[in-house]
Amino acid sequence: MARTLSSSFRTIMLLLALLLASLEASVAQIGVCYGMFGKLPPPSEVIALYNQKNIRRMRLYDPNQEALRALGGTPIELMLGLPNTDLQRIASNQAEANTWVQNNVKNHASVRFRYIAVGNEVRPTDSYTQFLVLAMRNIQNALSSAGLGGTIKVSTSIDTGVLAESYPPSRGSFNTTYRPLLDPIIHFLVENQSPLLVNIYPYYSYTGNTRDISLDYALFRSTSPVVSDPPHDYQNLFDATLDAVYSALEKSGGASLKIAVSETGWPSAGGGDATSVDNARTYNRNLLQHVKQGTPKRPGAIETYIFAMFDEADKNPEYEKHWGLFLPHKEPKYPINLN
Ligand SMILES: *[C@@H]1O[C@H](CO)[C@@H](O)[C@H](O)[C@H]1NC(C)=O
Repeated sequence: MARTLSSSFRTIMLLLALLLASLEASVAQIGVCYGMFGKLPPPSEVIALYNQKNIRRMRLYDPNQEALRALGGTPIELMLGLPNTDLQRIASNQAEANTWVQNNVKNHASVRFRYIAVGNEVRPTDSYTQFLVLAMRNIQNALSSAGLGGTIKVSTSIDTGVLAESYPPSRGSFNTTYRPLLDPIIHFLVENQSPLLVNIYPYYSYTGNTRDISLDYALFRSTSPVVSDPPHDYQNLFDATLDAVYSALEKSGGASLKIAVSETGWPSAGGGDATSVDNARTYNRNLLQHVKQGTPKRPGAIETYIFAMFDEADKNPEYEKHWGLFLPHKEPKYPINLN
């Protein structure tokens, strides 16, 4: 009897552990972007807020030393940005990249670095475009020399303006103007088995075309398929956009790549009818549920970073100021459970 009891106890404990592990897998995918363009609490308080709210991943746009120090010893996994303005310098020689990795990664050994996001939304016409992939390579080399090459992935964030076609999702393709920029990025990511980072904003797609796109489709509120793209059906714009990028990757040598959504969100004010606290809450709440399951083309949890932690009053135009989950004094804008 005792043996039976203890063995069923063990079985129960094992099941419980498995259940917790699977819960962990489904909740651990969400991160929040920590933008700093406003009068915000000091980084130590912000990181305490992440911990308090159980937000386990963060995107940081530049190696802010105070933030990195505060992240040390916490369980928060970090996507660390290397800003566009540093690309030329980092690309210019390996020593510059080594120094960057020394100062911002190796010197913060108790920070859980997950990615270095080299550049953000770089466009073919930007002056630093030619330096992007070289900078990615130099950072990758520096990490590899430090023995961190397999642990910390190097990537870059693109936006969906790189798509020539996106409707229906299976027709997704990259704009040929962007191919000279994207092809070497895709090659680099495939070679290093790094994911592509994509900023996805159904808000902009919706406001740019309210004639063809319904608010319900953009806010994950449609209750039946909206876009038929056999063999798949699409019930929300987020999935349709993500799968359009996957289709474009398949046509450009990137079929093996995974995508992490490095920014997405919805503004609560400043942009007309579509911007409201209600819509922001609806989008972000539904997003949190939705990303556990993946897209029609790629089932499985989607690693996603919500933009953003705070409203950022120093940004322009007006609607850029109101993307925060939290107000600058750390009050949540609306109730939301981030784990
Ligand atoms: C491709 O990008 C260029 C430059 O941004 C733009 O002028 C052109 O309209 C785009 N083409 C398509 C099909 O979107």
